[in-house]
Amino acid sequence: MYRALYAVLLRRLPAEAAHRAGFALIRAAAAVPGLASALRLLMAPRDAALRVRALGLDFPGPLGLAAGFDKDAEGVAGLAALGFGFIEVGTVTAQPQPGNPKPRMFRFPAERALVNRMGFNNHGAAALAARLRALRSSGGGGFRPIIGVNIGKTKVVPEEGAIADYVTSARLVAGVADYVVVNVSSPNTPGLRDLQSVDKLRPLLAAVRAALDEASPRRRVPLLVKIAPDLADADVDAVADLAVDLGLDGIIATNTTISRAGLHDSAAVADAGPGGLSGPPLKARALEVLRRLNDRAGDRLVLIAAGGIETADDARERLAAGATLLQAYTAFIYHGPFWPGRVQRSLAGFAASRGTATTPAPPR
Ligand SMILES: Cc1cc2nc3c(=O)[nH]c(=O)nc-3n(C[C@H](O)[C@H](O)[C@H](O)COP(=O)(O)O)c2cc1C
Repeated sequence: MYRALYAVLLRRLPAEAAHRAGFALIRAAAAVPGLASALRLLMAPRDAALRVRALGLDFPGPLGLAAGFDKDAEGVAGLAALGFGFIEVGTVTAQPQPGNPKPRMFRFPAERALVNRMGFNNHGAAALAARLRALRSSGGGGFRPIIGVNIGKTKVVPEEGAIADYVTSARLVAGVADYVVVNVSSPNTPGLRDLQSVDKLRPLLAAVRAALDEASPRRRVPLLVKIAPDLADADVDAVADLAVDLGLDGIIATNTTISRAGLHDSAAVADAGPGGLSGPPLKARALEVLRRLNDRAGDRLVLIAAGGIETADDARERLAAGATLLQAYTAFIYHGPFWPGRVQRSLAGFAASRGTATTPAPPR
C-alpha cells in the first residue's frame, strides 16, 4: 500500500512536501480515538527478547527514530505506534528559527538516499518542552514512549555564545527528556561541526552536564553526544576518550555526511547543492566509526548506531559491532510506515540468541 502511495503521490511531490504529507497522515491516524493503541498492538515490539535496558531506561526494542523527523515533537504517539522503540525529537535550538530557504531536502531514489540542508528549522526549546509536558500530563492512554531530546545551536548565535545557547536549551528540556543529545555534527549550521574538536567540546559538554544536573536534581538525565562520520579517526578516538572522561552516557554515531561518495547522478548531486547525505551511501563509514568507538570505549559508553540502516541485516551488523541501540531516518522515508515494525520483528531471533541487551543504569 505504501509502495503504491509512494509511486502515485509522494514521489511526485517535492521531498519536504512529501515528508510533511506523510507525517500529517501519521498524526491524523494517531488522533483517531483507539487507532494509535490498535496500531501499537499490531506493530510495536512486544517480544521480550527485543527489550533493551540502557541509559537507565527500558526500551521495548532497539530501533528508534533518529533526530530530525519530528523536530518539534508533534507526532511522537503515532510514530511510536508504528513500532519505533524510542523517538528522538529535535534538533531544537534555544531560539525558534525558520531553517534554510526551500528547497532543502532532495531524494536520490536510485541509492535510496537523501541530501538535506534543513538548517534546524524548529519552534524552539521552550515550545518543545511545553509540548512534551502537555503530552506527559495527558497520559497518552497510559502509554508513554521513550523520548530523547536533541539540542543544537541557534544559527544567529556566534561561536562565543554557543555554550550559553546549548545550556539554555538543556535547562528547558531537562525535566521532559528521557535523555539529551548534544548535536555538534550537523553540516547545515555554519561552524557547528568545529565544536567537535576536544578543546571546544569539553567545556560545552561539561556545561550541558552541569545544567542538566541543576535543572533536574532528582533524576539524572542521561547525556550523549552525536558525531559526524566525517571526523578523522583520531578525532573519533578523542571524542570517545572525552566522553568517558566527562562521564557522558553515550555517543550517537553518526549524523549525515558531507561526502557524495556512492551517489551516481552527478547532475542531480550538483543540482541539490550543499547539505548532509543520509541512507545507504553512509552505511560503510557509519559502521566504521561505530567499530572504532566500540574498540575504544564500548564497555563504558552506550553506543547508538545511525547511518544507512535499512535492513534487518544492517541492524544486526550494528548490534554485533557494539551498538546497544539503533536509529534510522532515511529508510523510514523510502520504506514507509510498516518498516520499523518489520525490522524490529526480524531482530527478535537475533536478540534472543545474544541475550537481552542490558547495560548498567548510569551512576547517580
Ligand atoms: C531530512 C533530515 C533531517 C535531519 N535532521 C537532523 C536533526 O535535526 N538533528 C540531527 O541530529 N540529525 C538530523 N538528521 C540526521 C539523522 O538523524 C541521522 O543521523 C542520519 O540521517 C543518518 O541516518 P539515516 O541514514 O538512517 O537517515 C537529519 C536527517 C535527515 C535525512
